[in-house]
Amino acid sequence: MNEKQAVGEKAVEFVKKDMVVGLGTGSTVFYTLSLLGKLVQQGLSIKGIPTSVQTEKLAKELNIPLTSFDEIDQIDIAIDGADEVSGSLDLIKGGGGALLREKIVAKAAKKLIIVADSTKLVDQLGSFPLPVEIVPFVMKATKRHIQKLGIHPELRMANGAPFITDNGNYILDCACPKILAPNELENNLNMIPGVVDNGLFIGMADMVITVDKNKEVILR
Ligand code: 5RP
Repeated sequence: MNEKQAVGEKAVEFVKKDMVVGLGTGSTVFYTLSLLGKLVQQGLSIKGIPTSVQTEKLAKELNIPLTSFDEIDQIDIAIDGADEVSGSLDLIKGGGGALLREKIVAKAAKKLIIVADSTKLVDQLGSFPLPVEIVPFVMKATKRHIQKLGIHPELRMANGAPFITDNGNYILDCACPKILAPNELENNLNMIPGVVDNGLFIGMADMVITVDKNKEVILR
């Protein structure tokens, strides 16, 4: 079993009957959803809130019942992947472009569990370019504002055109020098007009499921 499958499936142990479950996005959470789908088939009653159109599609294929923020205010548990996880469990997310809905779901969740293979573990955030979701209307000015923070934004492209998020926005992938003050950077970015949100998830993860040097699944 590969690391993504091992950590993705482990997270399912924390899902209990009748929970509302935030369903993350990506290739690690794919395994969480696949196992949840099997348990639902065997009678587990849960409701999921997907963090992306991609996850919504997968959950429907797996017959996982879904709900929405029109029907509920709070989520019992959210399970999601990450692009980087620091020693203090701060995260960079958004490699798959779903950071906005992922953050909304994470904030509404009583417990956020991150599933991350060992390649995601870092001493300090910042090697992975930080995804920032921005409004297309003001793209160039937003880029200039971000550059003033000493970081280097690059418009994410897909098939020769700007990548469009599920919310109709663009993503700037921002090469940052090592992120020494993530809280400050998060606030500074989100104060720029045109920035919708950014992929820093600071102090949000309650638990990280990962793999140690002996290839054992561990909880942190
Ligand atoms: C999507 C994300 C994903 O959780 C992150 O990119 C990790 O993905 P994967 O599990 O495929 O490595 O933040 O926006």
